[in-house]
Amino acid sequence: CGIVGSVGTESAGPIVYSGLENLDYRGYDSAGIALVGRELTVAKQAGEVSELRVPDVSDATCGIGHTRWSTHGPPTDANAHPHISQNGTVAVVHNGIIENYESLKARLLKAGYEFSSDTDTEVIPHLLERELDDGHDLLAALERVVDFLEGSYAIAAVRAGSDRIVATRHESPLVVGHGDEAAFIASDVTAFLDRTRDVTYLEDGDIVSLEDNGVSVYHDGERVNRAIETVDWDADAAEKGGYEHYMRKEIHEQPSALRQTLSSRLDVDRGEVDLDLDFPQGYLESLEEIQFVACGTSYYASQYTAQLLEEFADVRATVTIASEYEFEGGRDPWRTLVVAVTQSGETADTLGAIRRAAGAGARTLAVTNTLGSTVTRETNDTLFIRAGPEIGVAATKTFASQVATLALLTVAIGRGRGALSTADARDVLEDLRALPGAVQQVLDEEEQVLAAAREYQDSDAFFFVGRRFGYPVALEGALKLKEISYDHAEGFAAGELKHGPLALVSDQTPVLAVLTTGADGDETRNNLTEAQTRRAPAIGVVTAGIRTKSLDWALEVPAVGVFEPLVANVYFQMFAYHIANLKERSIDKPRNLAKSVTVE
Ligand code: G6P
Repeated sequence: CGIVGSVGTESAGPIVYSGLENLDYRGYDSAGIALVGRELTVAKQAGEVSELRVPDVSDATCGIGHTRWSTHGPPTDANAHPHISQNGTVAVVHNGIIENYESLKARLLKAGYEFSSDTDTEVIPHLLERELDDGHDLLAALERVVDFLEGSYAIAAVRAGSDRIVATRHESPLVVGHGDEAAFIASDVTAFLDRTRDVTYLEDGDIVSLEDNGVSVYHDGERVNRAIETVDWDADAAEKGGYEHYMRKEIHEQPSALRQTLSSRLDVDRGEVDLDLDFPQGYLESLEEIQFVACGTSYYASQYTAQLLEEFADVRATVTIASEYEFEGGRDPWRTLVVAVTQSGETADTLGAIRRAAGAGARTLAVTNTLGSTVTRETNDTLFIRAGPEIGVAATKTFASQVATLALLTVAIGRGRGALSTADARDVLEDLRALPGAVQQVLDEEEQVLAAAREYQDSDAFFFVGRRFGYPVALEGALKLKEISYDHAEGFAAGELKHGPLALVSDQTPVLAVLTTGADGDETRNNLTEAQTRRAPAIGVVTAGIRTKSLDWALEVPAVGVFEPLVANVYFQMFAYHIANLKERSIDKPRNLAKSVTVE
């Protein structure tokens, strides 16, 4: 999602609107604006920013806006931001997730507040109104309200009759712009880069007040000084968060995307997950098979998950390339759940497969990143991966968030079937909870990956090998590299190397191997040695602390059990990126490929 706000001497409507246009790459399923006069004027609706009509309040010099990528509640007019307090005097825009909104909402409902949306955000204007009614000003009200909030958020709020924006952040970006005629607040500098390059990056817990005579930042109740920096990016670089490519930005967004994926869905102590899925009574217990249908990267995420399901939920799980799928005989449709995994929700092959499954009478579930997409309308249930928009054609953060979401589904199904004990569920959930931090540690090793990419950039071909959870990761690693570098790259089950592919191996073909927990590291290590004996350079991803003698490169991942291969994949993503970047390929838009393929 994207937040923008402006307060100054100029008319705020057009400034906020152009900020939203600049931010629409952050999410575009609904948009809205609130302009401040004696009363608030609010316009908001489902649809892209271009469909939004800015209210004609030319004397309003203060306003906020929002462009949304839905996480809680479908993209409807009512769910669009800004959200308004009960008496209509406070408007709020918000990014992120308020994890404890259900309990806050219950308390507000009890106190007589009414809600008009399904969002977690709507608790915030109501809470602010309550503090204002108690005599606090808007800044003090926000200071008090953040004490109630759990989760990650960036919030901006305005109040009727006062040309002032207050805002705060916690684990969600927020930046202030210092213009000559106005001050701005936004999720990122792209929103106002055409008006000022002087910016202040807020820190977690900062509360800021913007008025036409200046900007004040507070932290723990004290006024603080935050540096003003000058941004020298152009708009294109700014949109990419300063990275040269969306792909690299999205690789680096994985810790926060994963946090968003997992947010408020797992209860580690109880070994339970909450996915808001209502399967019919007795359905999970009676399930005989879960069939995945997917394409490309989503297919590999499905292969990862099928193994999780067999291991933790005691159910047969099969994976079929969507274009090859038929609902074949010998199966009871009632006892077969067909899961379409598709980040876009629009892949024609996957839609075709799900239609064939539904036609045969099977229950269907969509796992997607895109609210309102076709797949969500054609399946019985939907599970969102909440990775945020992905622009690079090569899928990166959506793969990680797909596997994490499907791991939660695995726990839900395992528990629902009575196949997973509380203690075992707790172990899986603990590893999942550690995943964002583990991915961050790997991202911090990017220099090492760049050095390896430099060493091998001129190789004839690249082979990726793995076993168990390492196998789909080997396939995904090879797919990433071939997609963006145009080099020959191929993934193999490590045990199969000796049954054919070894004939291709030479000192010009680096072999990248997943040697971690969850990937039968010791056996795979033996297979890698077979390639090394034929002089192939060996790059191994290993669990931190494991002895790694005789590898050319040993890349370490923190211990997170069966998710270590998923973390290893982040090395492969960076490797593919740097090989392609050294060759100056068109990384975000590789030749001949499309982000979403809507033909069969
Ligand atoms: C296209 C993209 C791939 C993607 C595949 C499936 O081929 O280039 O990166 O994995 O579609 O996309 P989906 O949206 O269904 O996950």
